[in-house]
Amino acid sequence: MDTRVIFTNQVEEAIDSAVEAMAPAGVYVLVDTNTAKYVLPRLQTGSKAIAAAKVLMMSAGEENKNLETLARVWTGLGDGEATRRSVMINVGGGVVTDLGAFAAATFKRGIRFINVPTTLLGAVDASVGGKTGIDFNNLKNEVGVIRQADLVIVSTTFFRTLDSQQMLSGYAEMVKHAALTGPEAVSRLLRYNLADYDDDQLLRLLCESVEVKRSVVDKDLNDNGVRRTLNLGHTTAHALEALALKRGAPIAHGYAVAMGMVVTLVLSRMLKGFPSERLHSFAHWVRETYGTMAITCDDYPELLQAMTHDKKNHRAGEVMFVLLKDWGQPEIDQSVDAKTIEAALDIYRDLMGI
Ligand SMILES: NC(=O)c1ccc[n+]([C@@H]2O[C@H](COP(=O)([O-])OP(=O)(O)OC[C@H]3O[C@@H](n4cnc5c(N)ncnc54)[C@H](O)[C@@H]3O)[C@@H](O)[C@H]2O)c1
Repeated sequence: MDTRVIFTNQVEEAIDSAVEAMAPAGVYVLVDTNTAKYVLPRLQTGSKAIAAAKVLMMSAGEENKNLETLARVWTGLGDGEATRRSVMINVGGGVVTDLGAFAAATFKRGIRFINVPTTLLGAVDASVGGKTGIDFNNLKNEVGVIRQADLVIVSTTFFRTLDSQQMLSGYAEMVKHAALTGPEAVSRLLRYNLADYDDDQLLRLLCESVEVKRSVVDKDLNDNGVRRTLNLGHTTAHALEALALKRGAPIAHGYAVAMGMVVTLVLSRMLKGFPSERLHSFAHWVRETYGTMAITCDDYPELLQAMTHDKKNHRAGEVMFVLLKDWGQPEIDQSVDAKTIEAALDIYRDLMGI
């Protein structure tokens, strides 16, 4: 099933007409402690469906995307007498939509749910595409199911209470989608002034961006082929995130994705002839926008080990990348050896002034 995504800055109306059309037996809205404060009051004032809904609350933060919270949400649905004809509305960032969608997909073997993402990362990535789940045994997204939302309502009006780091983190995923689209899409985003965004303009950019993910997911919901293009930049990003965590100075996922994309483009230049001037101007933009995470050649063994163990690498001992021949021309499952990766990391450090 292909998820319907509505892009609107009249969210309350969109929620009310969607709920009316679904004619549910009970509406349950899941928020976290931050969206309860910054988003829920506005929705309760403007939307009849949300005003009448039972509110389920979870604590904010990745550390709460766990089995205990999931059990509490199931209990809340059960105590609130939710039935298979009820609807759950997940209002929050990726943590709320991942966990809430999993709760809805499993409660009484599955009830309908709507995602209302309230972070840029949630809007561009987490709320769309059907991957739901929780962290378990210290492993991220270890347990979950693939189940597409019945509806996703995307609005930029929630983002004013996010800080610039959260905005930039989500923006990196938009840039990744643009990289999979073509040169015009990339230059549009690299020119855009996110620090001074206009709600409607950003909504249009988001609409283009989400469409990239949606069309890929429609072709390959279960991640067996073309969906892997969405891993662009992520092999290196996960390794940088792991290194940063170990140093006790974690970096936001999107920042690691932006830097990971630079490494990917260096490899793409070396192995696929990606145009040099595009690599240089992209690296410059990332450096100016996201800064740099300092790495030295002493970090290479650890980075390589993390890359080899990345769960997206299906063949043991190999590091698989999505590479680009040019903007909009991805090639999945490209195996790259350790020496070439080390050479790319050297060039990356030069480009980023490390
Ligand atoms: N399912 C997928 O395909 C997919 C894709 C990418 C990421 N994810 C998941 O998404 C999660 C990360 O998403 P995220 O960055 O949105 O994290 P998040 O949900 O933790 O949100 C970040 C912080 O912002 C707060 N917040 C949310 N909306 C707010 C608002 N409007 N104003 C002020 N504060 C607000 C949250 O309470 C939280 O403290 C991870 O768990 C990741 O695994 C899932």
